[in-house]
Amino acid sequence: MLITGTGGGMGRVAAMVFAREGAKVVGCDIQAEANNETVEMVRQAGGEMTGIAPINLTDPEQVQRLVEEAVAAYGGLDVVYNNAAMQRFGPMPEFSIEDWRTTITGELDIPFFVSKYAWPHLVQRGGGVIINVGSVAGMIAGETPPMVAHCAAKAGVIGLTRQLALEGAKHGIRAVTISSGPVLTPASDRDLGDNQAARDAITSKTLLKRFGQPEEIVELAAFLASDRAAYITGANYAVDGGASAW
Ligand SMILES: NC(=O)c1ccc[n+]([C@@H]2O[C@H](COP(=O)([O-])OP(=O)(O)OC[C@H]3O[C@@H](n4cnc5c(N)ncnc54)[C@H](O)[C@@H]3O)[C@@H](O)[C@H]2O)c1
Repeated sequence: MLITGTGGGMGRVAAMVFAREGAKVVGCDIQAEANNETVEMVRQAGGEMTGIAPINLTDPEQVQRLVEEAVAAYGGLDVVYNNAAMQRFGPMPEFSIEDWRTTITGELDIPFFVSKYAWPHLVQRGGGVIINVGSVAGMIAGETPPMVAHCAAKAGVIGLTRQLALEGAKHGIRAVTISSGPVLTPASDRDLGDNQAARDAITSKTLLKRFGQPEEIVELAAFLASDRAAYITGANYAVDGGASAW
């Protein structure tokens, strides 16, 4: 399987969890050192992982090479976990054209590029699963932080997934979205810094009044990638502590 963005956050945890489940994991990231750390962690825990880094997933040529290397590493590809993303936040109308393009590229181009180049390999194998990481922001507007491009891009991910499911069904390819609520990862922790008011605003929008842990997202991915989820495709799952329920 291929997981993008395994240098930290949910991608690193995904590598650990899927390797624990017996998957042969290919993980990639733009941050080579951090990705190597993940490879070490997985191997020390007894799992199987190959790291490919640094790789910039916004560059389609690099993505094409990545997919070919991933296929070669274990002789095929059955699961693609589109976890990696890069986004910017800010209020309208200060949000610049560059902020917009960076976010759309970082959140929507990446899963499309990876899915595009993985697709023929999944077809060749007789099917597989594409897991795309959306966000609660793809379903409802978000106040903290202001997130116009993030909302648009993650709604795009949900739409992308539905279409991949439609076109993939006849090939045995399932596609699903996991729409994460606020999760404490190194990235979100760093972005929020000591802004306690922002942290409180975010957790108060959840029903459970807390951030999620990466494991709480990734465990669903492990289920969705398995044959136990064989009848699930095209669907979008909120794992958001209830943030989208009200
Ligand atoms: N953390 C949250 O609160 C939250 C909420 C909703 C959705 N999400 C989504 O969950 C996913 C994982 O989020 P996270 O918080 O673990 O993120 P993160 O920033 O901690 O990790 C993302 C990883 O992707 C890598 N990456 C980013 N751009 C890349 C590129 N161009 N090429 C290669 N690698 C690149 C980063 O280096 C990083 O290691 C993302 O799709 C994110 O949008 C996160």
